[in-house]
Amino acid sequence: MKITVVGAGAVGATCADNIARKELATELVLLDIKEGFAEGKAQDMMQTATLLGFDTRISGSTNDYSKTANSDVVVITSGLPRKPGMTREELIGTNAGIVKGVCENILKHSPNAIIIVISNPMDTMTYLALQSTGLPKNRIIGMGGTLDSARFKYQLSTTLNCSPSDLNAIVVGGHGDTTMIPLIKHATWNSIPVTQFLDEAQQQAIINDTMVGGATLTKLLGTSAWYAPGAAGAALVESIVRDEKKLFTCCVSLDGEYGQSDICLGVPVVIGKNGWEKIVAMDLSADEQAAFNKSADAVRNMNDVLKTL
Ligand code: 2OP
Repeated sequence: MKITVVGAGAVGATCADNIARKELATELVLLDIKEGFAEGKAQDMMQTATLLGFDTRISGSTNDYSKTANSDVVVITSGLPRKPGMTREELIGTNAGIVKGVCENILKHSPNAIIIVISNPMDTMTYLALQSTGLPKNRIIGMGGTLDSARFKYQLSTTLNCSPSDLNAIVVGGHGDTTMIPLIKHATWNSIPVTQFLDEAQQQAIINDTMVGGATLTKLLGTSAWYAPGAAGAALVESIVRDEKKLFTCCVSLDGEYGQSDICLGVPVVIGKNGWEKIVAMDLSADEQAAFNKSADAVRNMNDVLKTL
């Protein structure tokens, strides 16, 4: 199994580190445009191999995509991260050009790869990856909802004072501060609805804190987060390479599902060796469906910006 992570910044390096530690690949390539940067990170990580006990060969490349040839999975993290006060959407102008170029190179050297998109604005970058590569839709996966659902479970766990691993909770819709929809009425603590333990004010606070989860960290860190985004990317890679068929919320191309078409948006999907293998239908209330439609409108407006670039 060969995996490439494009972008050796904090998110890409963390994702690669997780992939190596889990031994998901025999060969792992880290690529960056900054001279020597990916090579340095790769060497540093390789020097943890005997300490952590993994057997993945990690190499770095300065923008030489021939080194990534025949990758089975490619994770795209390239582009500028957010600065405090910035929305993910503000990155579109710069990141669209970067992601488009990356996609062309991936297609040239790894035409059979499954592509995971992390770059922001993630919903629009996933749509761009689908349009620009023309690959079958099941091979383009946007990571956002996986991360947002992990953050939602974290927020629930701190209020409920329970293990986040005991929680089942998902965030659907876009990966934006105002477009994501934490589905609290569907969330359970080992099958027990969490709403039994939380009053309306607590529920609203958890929803709000989840929605601004990334922005809160950007303010604290001075740049956008990396541990959870990197781990979320690696969790998707794991479900693909081990064909786990786990259910994640991912940004995928909708063709009538959840009432939307010609858009990539976060919905529950099964992730396995073929990429996203199935969109899972869930019953949304009228309010939830209205929020989903509103989220789709906002993402569609952002996708329209691509036409002007
Ligand atoms: C975040 O929410 C990087 O979009 C990512 O932290």
